[in-house]
Amino acid sequence: MSKFMDWVDARFPATKMWEDHLSKYYAPKNFNFFYFFGSLALLVLVNQIVTGVWLTMSYTPSAEEAFASVEYIMRDVEYGSILRLLHSTGASAFFIVVYLHMFRGLLYGSYQKPRELVWVFGMLIYLALMAEAFMGYLLPWGQMSYWGAQVIISLFGAIPVIGGDLTQWIRGDYLISGITLNRFFALHVVALPIVILGLVVLHVLALHEVGSNNPDGVDIKKHKDENGIPLDGIAFHPYYTVKDIVGVVVFLFIFCSIVFFFPEMGGYFLEKPNFEVANAFKTPLHIAPVWYFTPFYAILRAIPDKLMGVIAMGAAIAVLFVLPWLDRSPVKSMRYKGWLSKGWLVVFCVAFVILGVLGVLPPTPERTILSQVCTFLYFAYFILMPFYTRLEKTKPVPERVTG
Ligand code: HEM
Repeated sequence: MSKFMDWVDARFPATKMWEDHLSKYYAPKNFNFFYFFGSLALLVLVNQIVTGVWLTMSYTPSAEEAFASVEYIMRDVEYGSILRLLHSTGASAFFIVVYLHMFRGLLYGSYQKPRELVWVFGMLIYLALMAEAFMGYLLPWGQMSYWGAQVIISLFGAIPVIGGDLTQWIRGDYLISGITLNRFFALHVVALPIVILGLVVLHVLALHEVGSNNPDGVDIKKHKDENGIPLDGIAFHPYYTVKDIVGVVVFLFIFCSIVFFFPEMGGYFLEKPNFEVANAFKTPLHIAPVWYFTPFYAILRAIPDKLMGVIAMGAAIAVLFVLPWLDRSPVKSMRYKGWLSKGWLVVFCVAFVILGVLGVLPPTPERTILSQVCTFLYFAYFILMPFYTRLEKTKPVPERVTG
């Protein structure tokens, strides 16, 4: 075996890569619950790719046959229903895991210097993931697939001058048709997965270049032993590979319970109108995107002017990209930040969740006002950040991690 590895290593840096990224990658020893979600995101990504490849074997991307081919997968293809539900539940699980993963970043200032690029690559993944989920949702060709896509694509029509041509270019037709379905299929199955995989590699490479942050936000590279190994670091393999398996087991337990017993999740993971085939002549009473898009959808609806709404929705995502440059705090972790940072993080999270709920519900005048207040708070969290992070009194950060 070792002779074989010598032969490989002379031609390909297999052992070097194993050591650099696993057995000699020293991660802080105080990782907590929130550090499970990076490896879980990888797991869900693999689940989506594997189940997606097998679904593609029986799915037909045409307006005439798409809906029936999904029924066929659910009823006749061996293990088809499990494959499909693993994939549809996996999409929601992906966003749950990624939102918790991003929240960890906010909590411990993981986006701060020197991890700005880790964050920016993460945000690019998030964008690509949203595009991937949006296009995937058209594929079953149900009522909500059709009308959800109709609402989102028509938003581009609000752009002055080029809007009309742009929507037509995206659809490839005067209305959403089999042509749109075909191109969304190509992008969902081939182009975007490649982009996402590439970005994940860049994300992890950027992280391993600078090293992981931790719940104390202290730099473990400041204190090393005589061999240059951080005193507060432990080898990723075997310590965190084994720890992450615990997270994987708990996650799979919850995930499989949903797949087997509540795959529709009360209409949140699989929406009810999507059990009816797409019909261009019958608009559903209430059109709402899947839950993971609803905070942004609520921001869009909060603003009466369509173009301004689209701009606000875009800005709500864009502002996350510049987060590393908005936080001026001398400390990273919420543990040592002042009460202003803590308070604003709570306000932001509450506003985000309320927007998510409002985005699912049909609008009423009261709900619109509430969504305007929450949109205001959402943006205030970011716009005021350079001020409150500089003004507030922080607690002294320990020299070493606290466990
Ligand atoms: C497919 C989606 C993603 C995958 C597979 C992924 C994977 C990972 C992995 C394996 C780690 C190292 C383990 C950990 O710290 O938990 C990590 C760290 C990190 N990720 Fe992601 N990630 C994804 C999306 C995102 C997104 C959307 C963001 C934010 C916009 C993000 C921001 C970060 C940050 C800031 C770190 C460093 C955390 C620290 O050291 O404290 N990631 N990611």
